[in-house]
Amino acid sequence: MNTNTPHPTNTVPSASTVPSASSVASENAKGAAMDPRPVLLDINKLSIEYRTKRGKLKAVHEASLRIRKGESVAIIGESGCGKTTLATSIVHMLPRNATISGGSIGFFPEGKAEIRLEALPEKEMRAVRWNDIVMMFQASQSSFNPVAKIRTQFLDTFQAHNPEISTDDALNRSRELLELVFLNADAVLNSFPHELSGGMKQRTLIALSLLLDPQLVILDEPTTALDLITQKKILNLLNSLRDSCGFSMMFITHDLGIVTQLADRVVTMYAGVVVENAPTADFFSTPLHPYSQGLLRAIPKLNATFEQLYSIPGSTPDLVDKMDGCLFAPRCAHCHARCLTEIPALRQTDNDRWVACHLYEEVTHGAY
Ligand SMILES: Nc1ncnc2c1ncn2[C@@H]1O[C@H](COP(=O)(O)OP(=O)(O)OP(=O)(O)O)[C@@H](O)[C@H]1O
Ligand code: SF4
Ligand SMILES: [Mg+2]
Repeated sequence: MNTNTPHPTNTVPSASTVPSASSVASENAKGAAMDPRPVLLDINKLSIEYRTKRGKLKAVHEASLRIRKGESVAIIGESGCGKTTLATSIVHMLPRNATISGGSIGFFPEGKAEIRLEALPEKEMRAVRWNDIVMMFQASQSSFNPVAKIRTQFLDTFQAHNPEISTDDALNRSRELLELVFLNADAVLNSFPHELSGGMKQRTLIALSLLLDPQLVILDEPTTALDLITQKKILNLLNSLRDSCGFSMMFITHDLGIVTQLADRVVTMYAGVVVENAPTADFFSTPLHPYSQGLLRAIPKLNATFEQLYSIPGSTPDLVDKMDGCLFAPRCAHCHARCLTEIPALRQTDNDRWVACHLYEEVTHGAY
């Protein structure tokens, strides 16, 4: 670790307060300078802790990001960096020992007033889940009830959220969606989950997720359990559905190939902190944060020898420990004295990019 690198002495601005709904509303009204699509989800300085025997584990620390209507945002970062915790907090599916200890999750569904999800009572959250926001987990197989036919599971979902719909209408809509994901609708509806292949189950789950026309689809490593060819088909399918149905997408992945294929924007997390947020092309051409640079350098090249394979030195910090300075410091080749005492704020470098690193303070324009 190099602690002698010279560095300007700008002070980190104090954390701004959580913006009110009106700040996003006015940004939406202006049509944001860099992307005219209205903001659908605004996560602002969100912190989440787990109670553990060793103390409080800070799984997510002051994470901020926005997702616009129709946008596809990838969340990347090493195992344990808080991706699933962040995503599950949006739909109130955190484990019992988790607490949102700060920040806000503003949801701006089309035609409705802002909903503050972080404080929403469970009864009201039930109306948001499935209707407006759906989340798909890694193991699609376990999302289905193994002893009920797919038909029953589609009808139950409809009836739980839209009791007025007739069985015929519900089945017609189910068929429509199953055909949209290129499945033989009647055959699938009459099957038990174990009678479908992994790829078919994943497509069926996608159709089920879209049943109530959600505005935001969250996917936690949606295709990891599938073979590469099926993965590619499912991803292409998701992308074309996003275009035709107009939903926004947040997806978590370890596969940077999937990111290039699916994402408009990449959010990099490290040890519970959002360290970079950039349009996909910029992220791959000029990653700013030293951790993002390390992740891209670690992509294996086909012609590389074993000795040439790169991995970021060191390991992720213990999230129960007190936070002093930049959490990436022990692994960073650019670390200097200030990095050890001040946590870098997430700051905007140009209209559309954000980075949390003391190296970029001269070119940034204020904290999130
Ligand atoms: N129920 C829990 N109780 C205590 N700690 C937890 C719990 N769930 C997750 N954690 C911890 O919180 C941190 C963030 O976990 P999380 O599952 O969100 O990471 P992730 O980025 O999704 O990882 P992966 O890529 O492996 O899925 C990790 O240190 C993890 O060990
Ligand atoms: S702030 Fe962190 S990532 Fe940036 S130079 Fe310092 S140690 Fe490295
Ligand atoms: Mg996870």
